[in-house]
Amino acid sequence: MPTNIKRIVSIANQKGGVGKTTTAINMAAAIAKKGHKVLLIDLDPQGNASTGLGIEPEAREITAYDVLVDGSSIKDAAVKTQVQNLSVLPSNTDLSSADAELMSDKGRLLRLRNALASTEGYKYVFIDCPPSLNLLTINAFAASDSVLVPLQSEFYALEGLSQLILTVREVREALDTELFIDGVVLTMFDRRVKLAQQVEADVRENLGNLVYKTIIPRSVRLSEAPSYGETILQYDASGRGAQAYLDLGSEFLKRDKSKKNKS
Ligand SMILES: Nc1ncnc2c1ncn2[C@@H]1O[C@H](COP(=O)(O)OP(=O)(O)O)[C@@H](O)[C@H]1O
Ligand SMILES: [Mg+2]
Repeated sequence: MPTNIKRIVSIANQKGGVGKTTTAINMAAAIAKKGHKVLLIDLDPQGNASTGLGIEPEAREITAYDVLVDGSSIKDAAVKTQVQNLSVLPSNTDLSSADAELMSDKGRLLRLRNALASTEGYKYVFIDCPPSLNLLTINAFAASDSVLVPLQSEFYALEGLSQLILTVREVREALDTELFIDGVVLTMFDRRVKLAQQVEADVRENLGNLVYKTIIPRSVRLSEAPSYGETILQYDASGRGAQAYLDLGSEFLKRDKSKKNKS
């Protein structure tokens, strides 16, 4: 693992539309705002994290595809965003063929880990994973210290979680890492909906301390911000969404510190 990166975190859930990209962008922005150098890796061929951070398709000269498949360096590919301390390794649809192209490569699971090993200048790296437990997600897990799982506050929130936990365990054992699930964060939470409260109670009962205290509320502002290429800290700095992601960032850093003290 690289010396100066303190922590690499995959933001993953194989379900689509649960708030992975929204969490990746805004949590990365929140940590950057606290003065840490942050890199967000867009590992979804949809490129939503790149777009949400205002990186136009033309500005994605070297992408995650080039890093994974052609061995381009992250240093050359990373693009600075409008947010101080926050850079992004952009992606586009090229990335959807990476799986097939790497098929016969023996080291295909470790492409991202190896690329990060020679990357300097960042304290925290977040990886926005695609909605699938495919080769891209395995590359993210293999490169990460931990996984953060956004769960949408709906009836089927926990569905699929056991498969995700199993995959984390398989990667840990097969690739000899210490990968762990750092936490689960409830997203798109609507306090007025009774079901949401039942889901919260259920998730907390099942997963205990794994669940972040911070809950991300459902907020139209959060869904509008990416169409302006802005994080919520720029688009609606004083709103509930911004506050929630700042709180999530603080809670993440606090956990990070307590873990370090333990070891
Ligand atoms: N807290 C929220 N409140 C309202 N809309 C949200 C919230 N989080 C995400 N969304 C919207 O829900 C959709 C799916 O979110 P996204 O972060 O793209 O999920 P994923 O990356 O898991 O597919 C997007 O349109 C996004 O803008
Ligand atoms: Mg996404």
